Amino acid sequence: MTILITGGAGFIGSHVVRLFVNKYKNYKICNLDLLTYAGNLENLKDIENEPNYHFIKGDINDSDFINNLFKTYQFDAVIHLAAESHVDRSIEDPLSFVKTNVFGTVNLLNAAKKIWKEDFERKLFYHISTDEVYGTLGETGLFTETTSYDPNSPYSASKASSDHFVRAYGETYGMPYIISNCSNNYGQNQFPEKLIPLFINNIINNKPLPVYGDGNYTRDWLYVIDHAIAIELIFCSGKTGETYNIGGFNEWKNIDLVKLLCEQMDSKLNRSIGTSKKLITYVKDRPGHDLRYAIDASKIKNELGWEPSVTFEEGLKKTIDWYLNNEDWLSNVTTGTYQAYYEKQYNNSK
Ligand code: NAD
Ligand code: DAU
Repeated sequence: MTILITGGAGFIGSHVVRLFVNKYKNYKICNLDLLTYAGNLENLKDIENEPNYHFIKGDINDSDFINNLFKTYQFDAVIHLAAESHVDRSIEDPLSFVKTNVFGTVNLLNAAKKIWKEDFERKLFYHISTDEVYGTLGETGLFTETTSYDPNSPYSASKASSDHFVRAYGETYGMPYIISNCSNNYGQNQFPEKLIPLFINNIINNKPLPVYGDGNYTRDWLYVIDHAIAIELIFCSGKTGETYNIGGFNEWKNIDLVKLLCEQMDSKLNRSIGTSKKLITYVKDRPGHDLRYAIDASKIKNELGWEPSVTFEEGLKKTIDWYLNNEDWLSNVTTGTYQAYYEKQYNNSK
């Protein structure tokens, strides 16, 4: 098999690529990534010389390039992760999210349709999506696979749109597809614009921890390697034409999570307990901020036997250890344009 993984130099994609390269030695694993600010080949240093691994730098928005790529490699399957992924950036620049997340996805679907039209049966377009497409929950309830789409941010609207296109290609052209919608991931190699790595970096540097609004927003957190394992399982054993929700069975209010992170960081950094908590600063809320996400992951649990293997406390410790042991990685990604982004996002937020 030759598998195309898009966005494989990003956070989740790099863990998916590593898992497939190490486990499927007789498959050719092609990682297509544009290496935007979020893509980093440092994430894949340990497997870059494996004979079954191929890196291709390129843009999913470039139709000619994508069509040629499919012609050259004759992919049997696509696992599509490439995307603009940060909600705050989508509020600043919605069109770049429409471009990559919607147009880029349709470009890939078209290329796959063109190449596979004679032989759809043994092919698969696996689209990686998010629980944010379902919008927000109140204090109770869970997102299931049949919850109506109700996206609230430009990011989630663009992901919802891409999900609809994937499904429509299945209905209209018979494209064999699967979609999975996952909750918030955390773990090593996450770019420090997202809550957990941003706050780890700020605690290391004694900078304020900017909690949006009152901090009473809830997310369902999953360790990234457990997401990669779920993706592999769905790829191998999921049913074509189905959607699977993936979640951590692990809801945290932001403020409680931040306090736990502060305690763990204090003990790792040998600071007296309570030091990092003093950095918590309540700032202006995110516009359209979804109150609560929580996934009902019983379908993947009951049908495919998947559940998270790492508790949140363990996962968070592993994550903190990784960032503390990989200061070069952190300092390489937090210089230059990151500083400009940070100034713009947080400077006027009080
Ligand atoms: P990320 O931002 O860390 O990585 C995205 C990758 O896509 C980067 O390597 C980037 O270079 C690449 N990319 C961006 N535009 C591209 C283009 N035009 N052509 C080729 N490559 C391009 O994202 P992530 O957090 O790893 O998320 C991966 C996928 O999983 C996304 O589709 C996201 O919507 C979805 N997802 C993320 C989470 C989460 O908590 N991070 C949860 C559920 C679903
Ligand atoms: O639910 C899945 C989604 O999770 C993914 O699809 C997205 O790609 C991913 O970015 C993530 O979206 P969130 O918006 O939930 O993640 P983020 O880390 O940006 O924020 C988590 C929560 O923390 C959210 O309620 C906003 C809050 N927050 C975030 C930042 C960056 C703060 O309070 N302060 C901050 O500085």
